[in-house]
Amino acid sequence: MEHIETAVASHYGVDGVAHAILNAIGKEPVTVDDLAEFDEFHIGGRDVTAEIARAMKLAANTRVLDIGCGIGGAARYIASHFGAHVTGVDLTPGFIDAARMLTEKSGMDGRVEFQCASALKLPFQHASFDSAYMFHVGMNIADKAGLFAEARRVLRNGGAFAVYDVMRTSPGDSGYPVPWASTPDMSFTETPDAYRELLAKAGFQVIEERERVDLARAFFARMKERVANGTAPGLSFVMGPTARVKVANMVASVDQGIFAPVEMICRAD
Ligand SMILES: C[S@@+](CC[C@H](N)C(=O)[O-])C[C@H]1O[C@@H](n2cnc3c(N)ncnc32)[C@H](O)[C@@H]1O
Repeated sequence: MEHIETAVASHYGVDGVAHAILNAIGKEPVTVDDLAEFDEFHIGGRDVTAEIARAMKLAANTRVLDIGCGIGGAARYIASHFGAHVTGVDLTPGFIDAARMLTEKSGMDGRVEFQCASALKLPFQHASFDSAYMFHVGMNIADKAGLFAEARRVLRNGGAFAVYDVMRTSPGDSGYPVPWASTPDMSFTETPDAYRELLAKAGFQVIEERERVDLARAFFARMKERVANGTAPGLSFVMGPTARVKVANMVASVDQGIFAPVEMICRAD
């Protein structure tokens, strides 16, 4: 398993992410809203983070875990707009460094913290959190039974768990690279049926589920238009110089019906 985690961290390892983002914004301090175009690394960006946070009914002063937090965009947003205390964990050291720097520069360091750790070995006690979420992370993890067992272990009974992943909707494969994998051997997409079954085995009940293909098409069409006319920065800050080909391969596979972004809102039984 460790060689996969090393390969995954190296796939995501882009140098100097926070400095590049702060330079592009061109002012300090920054606000959580200034960062929105740069720091959400999942289909639909900030809008979907807000929708999922509402669906989870996140409340002020609750303890929330972001599994595979990337550079921490969703964590900062949920802390600032819902008043939660958010802890993010991620495998990629450069993303955790960037998450910490952007959090400090946006004045959110009292409410948001980060640790470099694997989702398969969370460094927390049993029932440490009221809620947890995982956005576009499961595609990098073969052992989803272990992943969901860890999420369940650190959540209190009755806590909400949101999963928003790119899932497999028919056989076939995309071209590579895609945003989550340079090569097929680090891509572990699964069907919604498999997710549901494994979530149930780990002690989660799926209470809401949505396939977000229409949202994905609209999001990428709008991003393409905005990047072309210079009103959006694009995804190269978090995806590196091959961002364009990664996104093109993913969009093609969504168009062919091979993959779809799917949201599942669960409750820990
Ligand atoms: C596509 S990015 C999404 C980041 C963030 N959730 C977001 O939506 O902005 C996937 C993230 O999952 C992290 N990741 C992948 N496998 C992981 C694992 N086993 N444990 C912790 N993080 C992992 C990667 O390092 C990467 O930051």
